[in-house]
Amino acid sequence: MTGDDPLEEPESGEPTTGVPVMDGDERSTPELRSDGGAAGADDVALDPWGSSSVSDYRKLFEEFGIEEFDEVLEEVPEPHYLMRRGVIFGHREYRPVAEAMREDEPFAALSGFMPTGDPHIGHKLVFDEIIWHQQQGGDAYALIADLEANAARGMSWEEIDEHARDYLLSLLALGFDPEEGTLYRQSGNRKLQDLAFELGADANFSEFQAIYGFDGETDVSHMQSVVTQMADILYPQLEEPKPTVIPVGPDQDPHVRLARDLAERMRFFKVSEAYASFELEGEERALVADCYDRLDPAAFDDDTLRCVHVAEALEETPLADLEVGADVLDSVLTKLREAGMEPIRPRTRFFDRRATEDAFDALIEAIDGEKRVYESHVDAFDVDRGEAEELAREIEVDHGGYGFQPPSSIYHRFMTGLTGGKMSSSIPASHISLLDDPETGYDKVKAASTGGRETAEEHREKGGKADECPVYELYAYLLAGDDDEFAKRVYDECTGGERLCGDCKEQAAQLMREFLEEHQEKREEVEELLADADIELESPRRRE
Ligand code: TRP
Repeated sequence: MTGDDPLEEPESGEPTTGVPVMDGDERSTPELRSDGGAAGADDVALDPWGSSSVSDYRKLFEEFGIEEFDEVLEEVPEPHYLMRRGVIFGHREYRPVAEAMREDEPFAALSGFMPTGDPHIGHKLVFDEIIWHQQQGGDAYALIADLEANAARGMSWEEIDEHARDYLLSLLALGFDPEEGTLYRQSGNRKLQDLAFELGADANFSEFQAIYGFDGETDVSHMQSVVTQMADILYPQLEEPKPTVIPVGPDQDPHVRLARDLAERMRFFKVSEAYASFELEGEERALVADCYDRLDPAAFDDDTLRCVHVAEALEETPLADLEVGADVLDSVLTKLREAGMEPIRPRTRFFDRRATEDAFDALIEAIDGEKRVYESHVDAFDVDRGEAEELAREIEVDHGGYGFQPPSSIYHRFMTGLTGGKMSSSIPASHISLLDDPETGYDKVKAASTGGRETAEEHREKGGKADECPVYELYAYLLAGDDDEFAKRVYDECTGGERLCGDCKEQAAQLMREFLEEHQEKREEVEELLADADIELESPRRRE
């Protein structure tokens, strides 16, 4: 598994500049949406879209089911500037989190950091995201993925301790409140490890192989660090289920998907909708639902709509008018024919997947109205889907289960390297460390490549290419802070040809110097806060 560093990008030959603006982005203010060349994800499974062309981003949405953040933006109260500017571009099921925020209900945010090097401006995005969720009233969690760093990157415990401290100081300096929030390191969290062990019982090697490309040579600790991350992601829900967002780079999406799967596999009951005794899959169900809605029971004997009637109605409809393929239709027809004279009646079905006997009995007892109990499922005729989900979770939690909600995620774009190409932790000039001397930060920005034209004359005439400019990206991701107008002005002046690269870089370099000065001062101020925080700074595994 790679993809561990938000700055690392895949070894793809694709250029990393280029405008990662997705189709449909034109709707929103393009000036603020132009985040410069977003680089790619560093993960085996995510390699296909490791570069930043338009089609790559689309792939992320189309093939992997990540949703566009834009679509939930309106539901978020006072969205963070990274959301407003499209730096946070995608999500999985963020709605419940936004809703909890609006309704003042419990929710959580968690992310983790592998202490493999200095914290840099790429990590700052994630720090800011956690802190913002904390300020919106969420339970905030930040963890040091020291087991992963040790297992997957072979870092020594001395190195891990040193970097962990640096990450934590920056996180606190940027505003994380350690008294309200939770900090931990994987190695020192027994509950986490127990949860990891438990989750491991529901995952197997073939799955890891398919998701992460693990093979016979992969060491077991590395695999264990994966279940540990799964436990991290579900950790905020250990006491009670709640919407939880995991802010990460898209390289971490395979982890998010697996965690969502495992969360589901741990559930006692599965709730689904059915029309008769047999099961229907997604498309099949939609087909029957549609047909059911069209038919009037009064038109049939005994005023009863039966499976055969639906089958007949479907057979009379030309395939072209149905929104499914022939295979789906065939399968539905077979099921309907087999059920024959059984009446069609919509119902909510609770499957017993891994409930205790007591829990299953309690569920049956708790269902209101008409119900039918079978060996390992119950059909409820007067309970709607939403109520059913709630009930199933309640019973599960009352009987010792976790009742996990599938974790949500938000994804931010990767930053372009200052020298063009990719921003990489292993190329110091390509990124700015939060520990860089402010003068070094100033110099790195001054030396950065830009989206400027060949000559000043051409630049004035055609305008700069802000969308492809690592320096503009610095403004949008960091230097402009919450000030949208400023970010927009820089963009407009650049693309309008009034803003030339020399002055623009000078301004950015000065702002970067100021930011680093301030940040580093704050790091010193929070030393004590960190010393008092509930997290081990020295690993007992150190050998010195
Ligand atoms: N694997 C992540 C990385 O490489 C670190 C991590 C561990 C993490 N546990 C997590 C990230 C839980 C998000 C949520 O950076």
